[in-house]
Amino acid sequence: MSLKPGSNAARDVAAVLHPMINLGMLEEKGPLMISRAKGVYIWDDQGKQYIEGLAGLWSTALGYGNEELADTAYQQLKDLSFQHMFMGKSHEPGMLLAEKLKEIAPLNASRVFFGCSGSDANDTQVKLMWFYNNALGRPNKKKIIGRVKGYHGITVVAGSLTGLAPMHTGWDLPLDCGRFLHTDFPHHYRHAEKGESEEDFATRCANNLEQMILREGPDTVAAFIAEPVMAAGGVIIPPRTYFEKIQAVCTKYDVIFIADEVVCGFGRTGNAFGSQTFNIKPDSVTFAKALTSSYQPLSAVVINDKIYQACLDGSKKLGTFGHGYTYSGHPVCCAVGLKTIEIYQRDRIFEHAAKMAPKFRARLEGFQDHPLVGEVRSVGLIGAIEFVSNKATKAGFTPAGSVGAYAFDRCHAHGLVARNVGDGVAFCPPLIVNEAQIDEIFDKFALALQDTLDHVTREGLLAA
Ligand SMILES: Cc1ncc(COP(=O)(O)O)c(C=O)c1O
Repeated sequence: MSLKPGSNAARDVAAVLHPMINLGMLEEKGPLMISRAKGVYIWDDQGKQYIEGLAGLWSTALGYGNEELADTAYQQLKDLSFQHMFMGKSHEPGMLLAEKLKEIAPLNASRVFFGCSGSDANDTQVKLMWFYNNALGRPNKKKIIGRVKGYHGITVVAGSLTGLAPMHTGWDLPLDCGRFLHTDFPHHYRHAEKGESEEDFATRCANNLEQMILREGPDTVAAFIAEPVMAAGGVIIPPRTYFEKIQAVCTKYDVIFIADEVVCGFGRTGNAFGSQTFNIKPDSVTFAKALTSSYQPLSAVVINDKIYQACLDGSKKLGTFGHGYTYSGHPVCCAVGLKTIEIYQRDRIFEHAAKMAPKFRARLEGFQDHPLVGEVRSVGLIGAIEFVSNKATKAGFTPAGSVGAYAFDRCHAHGLVARNVGDGVAFCPPLIVNEAQIDEIFDKFALALQDTLDHVTREGLLAA
């Protein structure tokens, strides 16, 4: 298919270098041009309506077109459109948001550092670990352990924390400096041994982490980073007791625990934070996405006092704390972040999401017996369905990801926005979604799934 000359789609692909897509395929098919959005619905430039099953990119918790957030941004743009936080400057929106995050974040919080994206915040996490250990006189304690299929962003350093092959191959990542390691992908359905319980699988993962730390030398390992639920890696819910066991290993070897709450933060998993849902006690936390419900680009790293005191000492010794972005603590982003949290608390959005979770889970589980469905998983308002070509052997498809991509397209065709994760589909609706809208999401998905089954059958892809 070639794009109509002069159409928006043709003009777009001639001008924009798009993220995260097969560029050749995009040149043929063109982008889906989205022109407006309200609540949990978006519309393309042809006027077709879609229900939002992914909250933008796991992010717009309050849905689209929230007037209060728009008014807050407009007012802040008029009052103080910009001030940086370099060289001792600050402003009220930044101060107030930092205070609020200290109050609600799932750790004994000491200080908040602002950035613009989850990726730059995780870069900050790594730099803080290096600065921290230099300040403590431990120059060798610099390695960071992430997990296979973890996603922590895409910059050179955050991309090195990430454990997904498509973000490494062709990009010379992870950085070849020996400082970035990846431990087990904790997906029980795929990686447990025959008959191994979730608890035993979790013990094995923790033992493997311990062996990795011992192999590398505990005096060389600075930190472990994890998403409470691995989102881009396939919506992987940790096996029971996993984080308690992993955390004990980190504590034993003085390894800082960084919780990447970029997707799980702010009500997604049924509690305010994923760390609470999975009993994680982090030393440092990364926030982005739902921090402003994606109304402004803003991220935050919240650290405990142990890390802060080392930064303080290090900066006194060196004469400065040499880190920061022009837009660290942008006042418009901070004002919107503050208003977003005010709305979450005032309108009891997290409680609402938790109330919707059983319906969301029930609708997902309704697909368990479908011939294409291997595993259904969810917690709170995030979930996924994984496709298999054979339910008994759990065999996937070749090429991997092709059936997920087909289902993704069929979701769009039926007016649903979801996301393919490998050969599966992920759901992460805005937290304001109601029961009727959850039904609408999964009724549309059922049509897409039927199309996918027809396709797989036609192509003879189902195992005999
Ligand atoms: C858990 C997690 N961390 C970090 C990031 C990176 O955030 P950003 O895309 O804002 O750089 C993402 C993005 O999806 C994410 O899911």
